[in-house]
Amino acid sequence: MKVLVIGGGAREHALCRSLSLDPAVTALHCAPGNAGIAEVAELHPVDQLDGAAVAALAGRLEAGLVVVGPEAPLVAGVADAVREAGIPCFGPSGEAARLEGSKAFAKDVMAAAEVPTARSYVCTTPAEVDEALDAFGTGDPYVVKDDGLAAGKGVVVTTDLAEARAHALACERVVIEEYLDGPEVSLFAITDGVTVVPLTPAQDFKRALDGDEGPNTGGMGAYSPLPWADPKLVDEVLETVLQPTVDELRRRGTPFSGLLYAGLAITSRGVRVIEFNARFGDPETQVVLARLRTPLAGVLLASANGSLDVLPPLAWRDEAAVTVVIASNGYPADPRTGDPIDGLADVAAQDAPHAYVLHAGTKQDGDRVVSAGGRVLSVTATGADLTEARSRAYAAVGRIGLEGSHHRSDIAAEVAQEAGRA
Ligand code: AMP
Ligand code: GLY
Repeated sequence: MKVLVIGGGAREHALCRSLSLDPAVTALHCAPGNAGIAEVAELHPVDQLDGAAVAALAGRLEAGLVVVGPEAPLVAGVADAVREAGIPCFGPSGEAARLEGSKAFAKDVMAAAEVPTARSYVCTTPAEVDEALDAFGTGDPYVVKDDGLAAGKGVVVTTDLAEARAHALACERVVIEEYLDGPEVSLFAITDGVTVVPLTPAQDFKRALDGDEGPNTGGMGAYSPLPWADPKLVDEVLETVLQPTVDELRRRGTPFSGLLYAGLAITSRGVRVIEFNARFGDPETQVVLARLRTPLAGVLLASANGSLDVLPPLAWRDEAAVTVVIASNGYPADPRTGDPIDGLADVAAQDAPHAYVLHAGTKQDGDRVVSAGGRVLSVTATGADLTEARSRAYAAVGRIGLEGSHHRSDIAAEVAQEAGRA
């Protein structure tokens, strides 16, 4: 099977890495890709948001499967254009991707499907904003979310009423909701619009600095499995969240196929959905795919062609995985790009196959690889347990040189320590 992956971040590098290891994949292409993906796939320039251009590229490459990685092309309807060209595509339609593209739409679907989530108000006027903030002014932090896609930057969680109000008024349409306490879990599921196959849960670290300090980011690291999670969690979320959501979207005539990502809070009152995404999450994908034993292409194709009901159960490695994101100077506020990256060959020589570097924002500049985004690399490792995976990941991180870069030093630290004590 010839496969074309759309996107160019660490998630797409993780997808391409897994696909390149799948014997069923005879040719692997990525557009636009990055310097690391170029090692496992042939790169092609493309405007990711241009469905006709993506479909034409897929046709020219005789792709038997197109995998759309990021949310922006999905919301723009790129998967629709590929399917209209008669090419199987992994990823939801533009209509179904509204589950991520509009927080208000997601709330409406959840209400209809009776999926547990934070109580919320959708506001479009200052009066509505004040009423909603007042309703939640119980001492818990305020949670204020821009309705549209905002690349992880549209959400403000704060105890400061003035800050909450200012953010709300800066949004055209805003969702103001109840604060959810408790640890967060990311659970991905592959679906063809009818059958839902959950993957293994992961946890990501959204704040920029150690100890969950600093600004919100796209994600600074992740680990899987979650030794502290209830073993029944996945079944419970399948039954109360994932299946009802997929059923509701099908009932509305806009079936969701592709990857459904549930961002969950495990609160004292039970599991609640924080958000849905319509694509693989980054950096959780890096650790989830590191643990998936089943060859990936067949799973994605079964979603694209509606045959997940006959897919054998997924097989997982009995190993832990940790990924640590190396971010550029100034990320997330004002990332600097164009800095040379050293040490990539050292990791390949000394740490493979247990640890490896997935590229997020990089590009080839002559014979050097330079930074080209806020999150630059996602250093991923597996091990017998989280302690081993984490020490391998950080050993590899230590070999990377990128001037002014920063990374968290506490990814999976607490959980590894607790698991070690248990
Ligand atoms: P989102 O873009 O919806 O994932 O929100 C980004 C982050 O804000 C989440 O990962 C949470 O850490 C936090 N957050 C979002 N909604 C809530 C909520 N209702 N209660 C507490 N924290 C939240
Ligand atoms: N890890 C968060 C996200 O992908 O949105």
